[in-house]
Amino acid sequence: LIESVRLRPILDSRGNKTVEADIETASGGFGRAAAPSGASTGEHEAVERPVEEAIAAAREHAIPRLEGAAYVGDQREIDQILHAADGTEDFSEIGANSAVAISMAAAKAAADVLGAPLYQHLGGAFRGRSFPTPLGNIIGGGEHAAEATAIQEFLAAPIGAPSIRDAVFANAAVHQTAGELLRDRGEAPAKGDEGAWAPSITEDVAFEIMAEATDSVADSFGFEIGFGLDVAAAELYEDGAYQYGTDSKSTAEQIEYVAEMVREYDLVYVEDPLDENDFDGFAELTDQVGDRTLICGDDLFVTNTARLAEGIERGAANSILIKPNQIGTLSDTVDAVELAQRSGYDPVISHRSGETEDTTIAHLAVATDAPFIKTGAVGGERTAKLNELIRIGDGTS
Ligand code: PGA
Ligand code: ZN
Repeated sequence: LIESVRLRPILDSRGNKTVEADIETASGGFGRAAAPSGASTGEHEAVERPVEEAIAAAREHAIPRLEGAAYVGDQREIDQILHAADGTEDFSEIGANSAVAISMAAAKAAADVLGAPLYQHLGGAFRGRSFPTPLGNIIGGGEHAAEATAIQEFLAAPIGAPSIRDAVFANAAVHQTAGELLRDRGEAPAKGDEGAWAPSITEDVAFEIMAEATDSVADSFGFEIGFGLDVAAAELYEDGAYQYGTDSKSTAEQIEYVAEMVREYDLVYVEDPLDENDFDGFAELTDQVGDRTLICGDDLFVTNTARLAEGIERGAANSILIKPNQIGTLSDTVDAVELAQRSGYDPVISHRSGETEDTTIAHLAVATDAPFIKTGAVGGERTAKLNELIRIGDGTS
C-alpha cells in the first residue's frame, strides 16, 4: 500500500528542471524515478507541463487518490488512477512529466517490495531472456545541436555483438573513432544534447565518417557493426518540403534519398524518415526498403496504441520507438510494446534528449525482450542506462 508520494523538481542533463517522484509503501518499500524531456517532441505526444505546475497539479489531483489507497504492485490500477485524476486525453492537467515519474516510481517500489530487479518485476518469469542491441548516437544535429547536420542522429548499431557489454563498448569506440576522423578533417566538434558529435559537416560527410568508423571498430572488435539514422523529419518539414540547409526535397525526393542511403550504406535502421503525419509516405518507403531495414516511427506513433494501430493498418512502418513519457504511464507504454510485437513491429525502447540518471528504460527493454534500445553512447545520463544493462547482463542488478 502506498504510504507517501513525494514530488520534487530536479535537474536534467540540459540543466532544465524535471519532475522526480519518491514513493514509499507501508511495508517499507521505496521507489524513485524521474521524467525525461524531449526537444524534437512529436505534436501528438502527451503534454509535458512546466515543472512547478505539473507538481502542483499532481499534488492536488493525483496524490490524494494514491496515498493509502493503491498498491504499488498493481501497476494498471495506479496508472488508471493517474488517468482519472488527470481527466484529459493527453495528461494536460497533471502533466505527463508528473504522471510518468509517479508511474515509474511505483514500479520501482513494487520491485523493491518483492526484492526483485525491476526488469523481473516488469517482465515476469518468461521475459528478459535476451538483450537489446544498443543504438549509439555518434554524430548529429537537428534540434539537438545548432549548425550541425540536418539529420538529427547517425546511430551505430552493433548487431553482431555477442553480449550487451561488447555492444556498449563497441558504440563508445565508434564514438571515439568518429571523433578522431572528424579531427583529422580539421573539425573541432562540440557535442549535442545526447553526447553525439555535432560538427558543421554535410550529410554526405557524416555518412562517410559513420561507414569508416563502424568498419574500423567492427574490424578490431571482430563482429558486425552497422549504422542507422533518426532523420526526425518532422523538424525538417516546412512549406511542404524537407529543408536541408540550402537544399530542399519534395516528399518523393525525400523517399528516394532515404531509400538510396539505405541501399548504399546498408542501413540497419531509419527512424522518422518523413513528417509525423505522413502515413502514406512512410508506407511508400516501407514498401521499398522495409524488407532490409527497420523503418521506425517515433513522432509518427508517439508510443500511442491508436496511432500505432493506424500505422499497422496502413503498412506505415515495421518498428516503433517507445518512450514512456510520450504517453505518460508504464501501462500505456507496455500496451504499445505488446501491440507492436503482436503485429510484427520491432519495439525500440528510447531515452529522450533531456535525461536524468534514471535507469527505468534499461529494465523496460530487458523486460519486454525489445530487440533494440536507443540511449546514446557516452555521457553520464546515457551511460547510467548502458552501465545498468551491463550490470543486468552480469546478473548483479
Ligand atoms: P527528443 O529526441 O527526445 O528530443 O524528442 C529523441 C528522438 O527524436 O528520438
Ligand atoms: Zn526520434
